[in-house]
Order: sequence, then C-alpha cells, then structure tokens
Amino acid sequence: MDNRTFYVTTPIYYPSDKLHIGHALTTTMADTLARYKRMRGYDVFFLTGSDEHGQKIERKAKEAGVTPLAYVDKIVATFQHLWKKLDISNDDFIRTSEERHKKVVQALFKKIYDQGDIYKSEYEGWYCTPCETFWTDRQLVEGNCPDCGRPVELVKEESYFFRMSKYADRLLQYIEDHPEFIQPVTRRNEMVSFIKQGLEDLCISRTTFDWGIPVPIDEKHVIYVWFDALTNYISALGYGSGDPKFEKYWPSAVHLVGKDIMRFHTIIWPIILIAAGIEPPVTVFGHGWLLVDGGKMSKSKGNVVDPLVLIDKYGTDAIRYFLLREMPYGADGYYSEDALILRTNTDLANDYGNLLSRTTSMLNKFCQGQIPAPGEEEPLDQELKNIAKGLPEEVDQALGRFEFSAALGAIWKLVSKANKYIEETAPWALAKDPSQTGRLGTVMYNLVEAIRISTVLLSPFMPNTPAKVWAQLGLTEHLDVQNWDSILSWGKTPVGVKINRGEPIFPRIEEEKENIAAPAEEKKVTAENKNQAQAEDKEAVNLIEIEDFAKVDLRVAEVIAAKKVEKADKLLELRVRLGEEERTVVAGIALHYAPEELVGKKIILVANLRPAKLRGITSQGMILAASQDGKLGVLTLDRDIPSGAKVK
Ligand code: MSP
Repeated sequence: MDNRTFYVTTPIYYPSDKLHIGHALTTTMADTLARYKRMRGYDVFFLTGSDEHGQKIERKAKEAGVTPLAYVDKIVATFQHLWKKLDISNDDFIRTSEERHKKVVQALFKKIYDQGDIYKSEYEGWYCTPCETFWTDRQLVEGNCPDCGRPVELVKEESYFFRMSKYADRLLQYIEDHPEFIQPVTRRNEMVSFIKQGLEDLCISRTTFDWGIPVPIDEKHVIYVWFDALTNYISALGYGSGDPKFEKYWPSAVHLVGKDIMRFHTIIWPIILIAAGIEPPVTVFGHGWLLVDGGKMSKSKGNVVDPLVLIDKYGTDAIRYFLLREMPYGADGYYSEDALILRTNTDLANDYGNLLSRTTSMLNKFCQGQIPAPGEEEPLDQELKNIAKGLPEEVDQALGRFEFSAALGAIWKLVSKANKYIEETAPWALAKDPSQTGRLGTVMYNLVEAIRISTVLLSPFMPNTPAKVWAQLGLTEHLDVQNWDSILSWGKTPVGVKINRGEPIFPRIEEEKENIAAPAEEKKVTAENKNQAQAEDKEAVNLIEIEDFAKVDLRVAEVIAAKKVEKADKLLELRVRLGEEERTVVAGIALHYAPEELVGKKIILVANLRPAKLRGITSQGMILAASQDGKLGVLTLDRDIPSGAKVK
C-alpha cells in the first residue's frame, strides 16, 4: 500500500428542489473514480454537499412560510437519501450553512481584502436569480439570462469587488503550464478564449437579501454565493484550521462539474485560490448534459426524471451502468426509459448476466458444480487471455481521462469475447467425450477467470453486483481474488471451489420490452409451437433483435468542412458536427461527390464505430450511403433536425 492521495468532488447542489437524474450522473462519476482509486490503494477523500445560500432559497422559504434553514434541511435530507440509495461512498457531506464552512469563507474573504484585492464600489448590472449569476448588458441574449433564458433583474447597489482582472495573465499561464487542469480540451479552448476577451472585476457581495455569509468587515453585506459555494472544496478539508486533511488531500484535487458551471470552476475559483496563495486544483473535468426528449429537464416542461423512481424499478447498478455507459465523452447524452431498458437488456442481461448464468449452468451440468482444474491449452484460449491481459491498463487509462464509457466498452470486449468463446469451444460437445475432460476443464476455468476479471474491473462502476457474482461462483470468502493485483495475471481463481448457481443477476426487463419493441404480431413462444419456432429460428438466422440494432449509435451529423485525401482517389476527409462535438470522418465517396457539395448537408453517422486509421487520418465514424450499379447517394434528412440527434 502506498500513500498516494486522491481528492474528488462533485458540485454542491442547490437545495431548491429535489435532485434529478442529471445530478445523479456527476455524483455517480465521482463515486466511480473514488471507488476505483480506493481499489488501487489510494487514500481517497470524496466530497459532495449542498449549496444552501442565496436569494432563490430565501424566496422559496418565504413562500413556504418557513426559515431558510428549515426549508433546506428538508431538501438536503432528500439528497442524502438519494446518495445512499445510489450507493455513493462520499467521505463527507458539506453544507454551506455549517459553521465550519462559514469560518473559512470569511477568513478567505478577509485575507484577499487585507491584501487589497477586494474593494468597495457601486454595482449596476443584470442578475439572474435562478443561476445566481451577474451578467453585463452585452452578455444578455434578447434581454434574458444567456444560460437559462429566464428574465434578469437590474441590480444597482453598493458592492465589494474582487480584482479578477489583475490575475487574468497568471491564470492563462497556469492553464498553459498545466494541460491537465481543464478537461476535455474543447472546454479548455472555450475557457481560454473567454479569458482572452478580457476579465472584468467580479462583484462578490450583495445587500438585497440576508440568507448568506456576512462579509466579515461589513455586516450589511452577504458574500456572493459563488465565492461562498466554491470555497466548500477547501472548507471541508479544514483549510486554515490546522486540520491535516487540507495538506494531505488538496494537492490531488479533481473537481467534476457540468459544462454550465465550468467558467466558475476554471476562472473564478482558480483566481480566488491564486490570490489567496493556494495552488489551483489538479483538474476540473466538465461533462456534458444529460438531456431528455425535448432537451433540458425542467419542472416547467414536466420532464424531470426522478432517479429514486428508477432505482426502485430497475436497481441501483443498472442506473449507474446506464449513466456511465451512455454519456459520450465530454458531450451531451440522452436519457429515455426505452434506452435504459435496452442497455440493461443488451449489456447486463444478455452479455454479462448471461455469461455468468451459462457458465454456472455448465459447471453444474459438466463439472459437478465445481470450478475445475485447467488442462490442455489451445490457441483460442490465448485470444481470450490477451484481451484480459491488456484490460486493467486500458481501464486505468480511460478512467484517467474520465472516459467512463470507453472504460466500460473495454471491459465489454472481454465479456463479449467470453460469450463467443463458449460458442467457439462448445463445452457441451467436450462434455460428451471422456477424452476431452482436460480440455473441458480449461474452457470452464477460463470462463470463470473471464467473469472474475471483468467483475473486479466493474466493481467501481456497479458496487452491488460483485457480491452476487462472488456468491454464485463460491468465491465470497476468497478476498484475495477480488482485488486489483489478482487480475494482473491469469489463473488466480482457486480450483475445486463449489459454486452456488443462483437467479440471473440481471433479469431481462420483459414487460417493458414488449411495450416498446415487440410489434403486436410478434409470435409468443408457447410449448406447442416451440419446435416450430426453433425451426423457423434456423431459417431466420439473418434476423436480428431490436437490441442488435440498438447497438449501432446512429446520429445526425452536419458536414462543416470537406476535402480530398491526398493520393487517395476515392477518399474524402470530412469534418462533421454532432451537437457540441466535432469529429473527423474519412469516407470513400470522392468519386461521387465534390467536397463543396457536402458542406452544410446533414448526414447520418455511425457514431460508435471503433475509430480506424485511413491514410494516416483517424476516422471517427462512418457515414451512411446507398449504392447500386455504380451510383451512390449519401443519406440525408428530408427536414431540419439538429445535429447530434439520434436516428432510430
Ligand atoms: N450550486 C451550484 C454548484 C456549486 S459548486 C461549487 C449548482 N448547483 S445545481 O444544483 O444547479 O447543479 C449542480 C450540477 O448539476 C451542475 O454541475 C450541473 O451541470 C449539473 N446538472 C444539472 N442538470 C444536469 C443535467 N441535465 N445533466 C447533467 N448535469 C446536470 O450549479
């Protein structure tokens, strides 16, 4: 065990309403990293909490006829309940109404004031109360808040200002010297150009409401909520109080936040820290938004998805898996109950759950319910082992880049290969031939190993599942084969262990499947028509299931640039936009289209195809086209649909 530390945080959420599935996303990401680092032997501190002050809460409490504290107490309790149900392993929960936090905010304010970086002046500007943000005239969009589109209020008052502008160059230098500070790189570029447009001094106090932390030198004022809120990341570590936690964990700080609050975390926060002589955090990672049909979730649209309802219906691990697998790196993702069911059925029930189920069933039938000793090796085994060999490193790298979906995708390569290995080795045939007992032992042992390795790797993502798998494999007591070191080499599973085959760990969600995917005329397989159905199945080998189709992530993409690939007659290099994301795609259509013909077209892209290098260019997807008799046409849309939209 070493003494490396890891400090990971979520944003502290506003207790103005109950949390939704989008909030659960950030917290699940942070929890996965915390669990992963713990498994790797790091000393981890994982923080979440609630951001309780501000005008909005004060108003809501007034409407409800209670004190602000009584109002937030109730909502904060729902946060804590949700995190428990979602198996969030936070080490602390900071509330900005706590005394330990207030002290640090005031001390930080005073320190910066004493050194002359905070001054009093008159403020006039536009304030968006729901976003707790000030805007200048030029930033408003049609007179409304540029972030949420709601009306803003003209505020004119005496305020304290923080000399942000003084630190702009230092911040730019810091960003340049620390490429890991702002991730993904697209957000880093956005932030850099924002800073380069010039920073204005920041108004950091208000006099129009009371529910906040008083300015230490002037009790008429309360401290601007973002100055207050951001400080949670160090107040929870006991900054300034001699608490060793600060020295210990702060140098490894990683903040996970949604893209909408990147500016606060990568401009205001580091400047506050630099001004106070504190090193900025190691990384701020900004993920995209989880959208629903119709875009953003909002109470007024009535499309807010309650994670507690989903957890009760589908289980914690299925929800966590969906969130982490479905969110594309750094870009927006989509939630729908159909998509959640498909993911659960395809990946968890069909692939992973079924692998365990088939393996334990065969161990019972062919190996007297025990994990057998491996015998003869064949080249096929090596393919399976090779995937497993590179996997820990691949998962580590992906998580290091906050690519949760890619990490799960890598684990699924092993799961899929193991399922394929069953078909390739046909253990049922080996079991019929007594001379193949050794070979059967190898196959069954290898299957258990594949399950074991994928389960250890999955444990930070789905913390409830491993215990069920270990119980079925009879490995509950064998803690030494459930840790990271044990998956670095093949063959650690003990031989001769008695298994306990149980219920499927991820049963298929059948009822809903019929609602969403099965056409009315789909045949029900009853005892009478089973034989016939099997015969039909054979003829219909080319038919696919809806889940097979759903594996292909088709998206609308807008071509924003196109050019010929040098020395390749048939290839065009396209730059396409999918929502907020941009990609390069190489397409073999140069004989049919001139590059300029394509620019501006909305086409269909296979967005989850493994990237491939063509003439040295990495192609991140494939465009759809139809061709016959030498003619080729690229698929386009007959009306205007935004790029990034899903095609199904
Ligand atoms: N209180 C501030 C954060 C202060 S941190 C020092 C705040 N709170 S919030 O409750 O409005 O939002 C918290 C986080 O939830 C933000 O990172 C925001 O991006 C995220 N999300 C809110 N809706 C979301 C989705 N639909 N999808 C993903 N994340 C979303 O901002």
